[in-house]
Amino acid sequence: MTVAQNIDTHPLSPIEHLLDLAAEDMKSVDIIIRERMQSPVGMIPDLAEHLVEAGGKRLRPLLTIACAHLCGYSGDDHYKLAAAVEFIHSATLLHDDVVDTSAKRRGKKTANLIWGNAPSILVGDFLFARAFNLMVETGSLDALEILSNASSIIAEGEVQQLAALGDISMSKDDYLSVISAKTAALFAAASEVSAVIAGQEPPVREALKTYGLELGIAFQLVDDALDYGGFETALGKSIGDDFREGKMSYPVIHAYQNAAQKGDEQQIGFWHKTMRDNQQAETDLEQAISLLRAQGALDATLDKARSHSQKAIQALDIFEDGPWKSALTELAAFVVDRVH
Ligand code: IPE
Ligand code: IPE
Ligand code: MG
Ligand code: MG
Repeated sequence: MTVAQNIDTHPLSPIEHLLDLAAEDMKSVDIIIRERMQSPVGMIPDLAEHLVEAGGKRLRPLLTIACAHLCGYSGDDHYKLAAAVEFIHSATLLHDDVVDTSAKRRGKKTANLIWGNAPSILVGDFLFARAFNLMVETGSLDALEILSNASSIIAEGEVQQLAALGDISMSKDDYLSVISAKTAALFAAASEVSAVIAGQEPPVREALKTYGLELGIAFQLVDDALDYGGFETALGKSIGDDFREGKMSYPVIHAYQNAAQKGDEQQIGFWHKTMRDNQQAETDLEQAISLLRAQGALDATLDKARSHSQKAIQALDIFEDGPWKSALTELAAFVVDRVH
């Protein structure tokens, strides 16, 4: 299968820069992650290790660590909270790959493909529960409130998206509300929680929450463009999953709305057949990619991502300049720039 060639993914340099800055802290986070995914029930560490060994960008725990430093935090609760954030993320990935019947994650076969759906769901539940153990251990009710709220919002977002599969009339606003919930809520919580443990005032909490939320929205928009225009090897997951599922992501909504506005019956018919009625032939993904390109839908998605990434950067205005602020600023720019 040939896929679009105009979106490329280059090495994760600003994430590497942030990882470098946070290297010592991330070692502590990693130790907690590895310790706390253990269980006498062998299938749990086997399956969890499969996902953890594969790496992942560790973006969300990095946010917790970087925001803690940005807020001048000097304790050590941020390690447990960062590990909890990565556990919540890992749990949602295990569940998401079952829901999306995905075959590839972090460059490896998905756990659902190897162990099956039931073990993936149950180990996901275990990781969720371990995240809550860690949060309770910090003794911060505020942190618990922020991350437990985020967890229920993520689940709502996933259900909202499931209910909207094949809904050809889905609006861009509905889509933005889904991704704010399923993805950006955890970015927001991962960032805000550090302001809370550092005892910062509400405006600082708000600023970091906004930073995370806008960054998360930008991140998912780019991810949705890459599902039609990226490279499987660079992404570590399969291309075209969203199309196969009939998921109305931003690029498709944009292209469909354009076609409807112009009264282009052929294109409207194509989207109805493939997305609404889920009747897809072998070559339909390629056809979808060419339509998205012809309608400028991938570029429109990246423009939208760019505007959210700018909002994330603006939210950092209240902080004094320094290495952590620079790294977080670079990260927000990079989330969009990883695509050319
Ligand atoms: C994947 O997130 C889920 C989305 C929100 C698109 P990441 O791309 O951050 O996943 P890993 O942790 O790096 O594998
Ligand atoms: C990611 O959603 C899962 C969550 C944010 C809960 P997607 O289904 O859009 O992401 P990928 O493409 O599988 O990583
Ligand atoms: Mg998925
Ligand atoms: Mg999904």
